[in-house]
Amino acid sequence: MDLDLKAALAVAQAAAQVGAEAIAQGYRNQDLTVKNKGLIDLVTQYDLKSEWAIRAIIKKAFPSHDLLAEEEGLDSANPQAPRWHVDPLDGTTNFAHQHPFFAVSVALSVPEPAGWKTLVAVVRAPILREVFWAIRGQGAFLQSLDHRQDGQPLANARQLRVSSANRLVQSLVNTGFPYDVHTRAREIVAPFERMLGQVQAVRRAGAASLDLAFVAAGRAEGYWETGLKPWDVAAGALLVEEAGGQVTDGQGAAYQLEKSPTILASNGLIHQEMVSIINEL
Ligand code: IPD
Ligand code: CA
Ligand code: CA
Repeated sequence: MDLDLKAALAVAQAAAQVGAEAIAQGYRNQDLTVKNKGLIDLVTQYDLKSEWAIRAIIKKAFPSHDLLAEEEGLDSANPQAPRWHVDPLDGTTNFAHQHPFFAVSVALSVPEPAGWKTLVAVVRAPILREVFWAIRGQGAFLQSLDHRQDGQPLANARQLRVSSANRLVQSLVNTGFPYDVHTRAREIVAPFERMLGQVQAVRRAGAASLDLAFVAAGRAEGYWETGLKPWDVAAGALLVEEAGGQVTDGQGAAYQLEKSPTILASNGLIHQEMVSIINEL
């Protein structure tokens, strides 16, 4: 299938921008209607506004592609069609608490015999004022959204490279907890506790797409989490790979989008040690 990846990236950027504008408006307005999808799993009207705006842009540009987004699901299910994985607001719990660590995550993947292969990724964090993006084979980049008073960008896009730290004790690692954590806290905390005993620090910041983007940017050496959905990680995983890092499942085998229960991403240098800690080897 011939896909113009530059055109797809432009659409992904435009979609992430309208989504990010919708949620930034909600962050400023402070007029949230918060509903519970589960005991601790929230959704606001801005998750939906963002998703509708993103869907409209992508479907207009690529009507034959499928789109799987968190709030309204898969719009058709053609296993041969390219598929957009969209999280219209990753970090809803943060958002609902006025915590600025949240983002829009947009990725385009194609079906291959081995599973979904992500080709284009954008993660846009409107309050952090950063946009991360990647095209497979062409690197991962970060652009600050801040401008000088004369309107010029404060910083140009820079190519991302994972960190070169190769010892756990020098490593900051990110993780997150699934929404069923109340019913399996012990199981979730066990690897967390083992990791705490070996690394420099563990962060649980509340947005998987940014946890991955921060590994790509060299701000963290590793990340692992279980129970995530494809829209949480499709974009971030490509960012890590394009920044020279490694992404696998919890056992260190190939990560399968829409299938693997655990994701493990790192700068590559501490990967095997993280596999050992997570699995208590
Ligand atoms: C959640 C965040 C969080 C992770 C959860 C995700 P949401 O996504 O990425 O960091 O720990 O497992 O579900 O619900 O805010 O889009
Ligand atoms: Ca999410
Ligand atoms: Ca979400």
